[in-house]
Amino acid sequence: MRILVTGSSGRLGSAVLNQLKERECSVLMTSRRKPEYGDRFDWVYSDMLTGEGLEVAARDIDVVIHTATSPMKKTKEIEVSGFTNFLSKLTHIKHFIYPSIVGIEDIPYHYYKHKHEAEEVLKQSNIPYTIVRATQFHSFVDSLFLSKPFLKGYFIPGNIKFQTVDVGEFANHLIDLTEKGPQGRTGDFAGPKVMKLREMADLKIGMSNEPSRIYNVSFPGKLYKSLLEGKNTNPTQNVGSVTFEDFLRKDMTGK
Ligand SMILES: NC(=O)c1ccc[n+]([C@@H]2O[C@H](COP(=O)([O-])OP(=O)(O)OC[C@H]3O[C@@H](n4cnc5c(N)ncnc54)[C@H](OP(=O)(O)O)[C@@H]3O)[C@@H](O)[C@H]2O)c1
Repeated sequence: MRILVTGSSGRLGSAVLNQLKERECSVLMTSRRKPEYGDRFDWVYSDMLTGEGLEVAARDIDVVIHTATSPMKKTKEIEVSGFTNFLSKLTHIKHFIYPSIVGIEDIPYHYYKHKHEAEEVLKQSNIPYTIVRATQFHSFVDSLFLSKPFLKGYFIPGNIKFQTVDVGEFANHLIDLTEKGPQGRTGDFAGPKVMKLREMADLKIGMSNEPSRIYNVSFPGKLYKSLLEGKNTNPTQNVGSVTFEDFLRKDMTGK
């Protein structure tokens, strides 16, 4: 089985490749920047926006784990049009694995809207697929909201909820899916616990002995309301076992 991992320089792509190093399979990676594992696996340049390199990347591939994504720039062009073009090169493959995000149809955010459209494009294609939605990664929420206190304070929307999950556990789940074969839309992959952002910040402050305080901010609008309501969580699918506390400990001590 030859696996293509797109987005090989990204958060999830790196975690997938890190685990594929330990397995006996043939792997091709693709992204625009050459990733860390450049000497361990074959790599080709490709750009989901222009289509450059996609034909070469798709050649002789059995399974695709598609982690390439662009949440901020040219999102519709990459997540939907570029994605549709990519699928048109993959009519020969046995399995396309699409990592998506929990709650995307209930959260009014342009990136999520385009990811939902991409799910529909994949369902309508003739390519055997698995769509698996995850909650936000521990590392993503940490770097977005808790990377650096400002003037000894975290100014955060403390009441919004997350059910963060370990990116390595999700990567492992995607690799297991390569062996299981196409599942269609499968069960969500959510973290072990729903937490308010201020609880996550409290934990970080306590564990790092930072003299920081939390300043709660709130926002108008439907996006904020949907995160207050925890539409990005799925407590019935708390399959991840690595907690946010475990993540912080490992990040701080390496253990
Ligand atoms: N982050 C989360 O908390 C989270 C949670 C659940 C699900 N997911 C899903 O998991 C997947 C991966 O997310 P991530 O957080 O790992 O993303 P990420 O760290 O931002 O990585 C994105 C990858 O896409 C590549 N990329 C960006 N623009 C590209 C382009 N035009 N052509 C080709 N490659 C391009 C980037 O590499 P280059 O710039 O080198 O090309 C990078 O390797 C996404 O589908 C996301 O929706 C993420």
